[in-house]
Amino acid sequence: MANTTIKGISGPLAGEITAPGDKSISHRSVILGSLADGRSTVHGFLKSEDTLSTLNAFRNMGVEIHMSPEILEIKGVGLYGLKKASETIDAGNSGTTARLLMGLLSGQDFISELTGDKYLKKRPMRRVVDPLLLMGADITGENNGENLPLTITGQKLKAIRFELPVASAQVKSAIILAGLFADGETEIIEPQKTRDHTERMLAHLGSPLKTDDKSIYVNAVDRLNPSELNVPSDISSAAFFIVAALINKGSEIILKNVGLNSARTGVLEILRRMGGSIEIEDRRLECGEEVGNIVVKSSDLKGIEIKGEDIPRTIDELPVIAAAACFAEGRTVITEAEELRVKETDRIKAVVTEFSKLNADIEELEDGMIVNGNRQLRGNICDSWGDHRIAMSLAITATMCEGETTINNSECVNISYPEFFDTLSKLRA
Ligand code: S3P
Repeated sequence: MANTTIKGISGPLAGEITAPGDKSISHRSVILGSLADGRSTVHGFLKSEDTLSTLNAFRNMGVEIHMSPEILEIKGVGLYGLKKASETIDAGNSGTTARLLMGLLSGQDFISELTGDKYLKKRPMRRVVDPLLLMGADITGENNGENLPLTITGQKLKAIRFELPVASAQVKSAIILAGLFADGETEIIEPQKTRDHTERMLAHLGSPLKTDDKSIYVNAVDRLNPSELNVPSDISSAAFFIVAALINKGSEIILKNVGLNSARTGVLEILRRMGGSIEIEDRRLECGEEVGNIVVKSSDLKGIEIKGEDIPRTIDELPVIAAAACFAEGRTVITEAEELRVKETDRIKAVVTEFSKLNADIEELEDGMIVNGNRQLRGNICDSWGDHRIAMSLAITATMCEGETTINNSECVNISYPEFFDTLSKLRA
């Protein structure tokens, strides 16, 4: 188990970085590229533990994928060309791999076994299993299908009309993938808009889905076109350095080529509402996704309320927003964010416990937290709880602590951002 020590207050951050590829889009590039008819190339693919779990799953199901330093080449086998995996599919720590594959595997003509690491085995799966059972899927496993490992026996699926009980892009995408193999038109109704990378990539591959303001409609298609895909930098990874630049006085950094899909930019809006200086330059559209450069300057922040529509649009960034709140004038209140309790770890408990060790004034709520800002924080020994975004949020907070902070179990940054600590050192040098 690795640990990493971060020096406290040491001056401004400066420079230009390109954060690694978007994790959500990278997963989908492998899934949909594998289902396309022929060879796709992916530029900017995120090479991290989570996305390699998806890549290995498709190799395991007979898809040839060649990874070079610059590009990923996928020899798509077509919608009906996957083969029974030669071994149990291991999604590792990746909820996206597990849940999206559950949808896809439900409609194949073979049996699959799906498992994950000790963290993923604790995460709720009935939210995906339930709609898939309504479509005629055959899924059995631990705790009545609530937990991995699961056995999925492919079936002929039928379309459903389904109102999502939780705003979740993973659940939505699982149903979309199942819907591609179902008889009839599947309708998915979202309580709040979530990231729509699956929908956009399907459109880019020549199979747009019908949508209106409340629903997404999915029908079986004959084929997906192979394509050249550009994966932008992940705004969820960029967010750590955006916050670092905002809170370290005198900083100015540029983050190049960041994905700016409007379902993901909640973090920018929230940090601006807190007073953050964040500008977008060179905004453009690539492969159906908005992209641009982000310029961030250190700013005096103030506490705000975060709830409602904000939550699904910034769900992965709430831990690092809590870090920003520690250095803001006044109180930040995050509510209606109970989903944080079922992420890679219980992120409400993890943030409150670990930030408290750094002398933060932070209080746990059932569905969020309250942070009273502008207290001098002090370095200490902390733990990541095995959660990449907790490790990185602690590292960013540590840059503004008095003295050093050691983060135990820091190797989990490899789940989404293997170069994270190197990039932080570079921007602080
Ligand atoms: C993701 C959706 C979100 C997000 C996760 C990635 C995706 O999860 O937290 O990191 O790629 O679809 P939920 O669908 O559980 O909200």
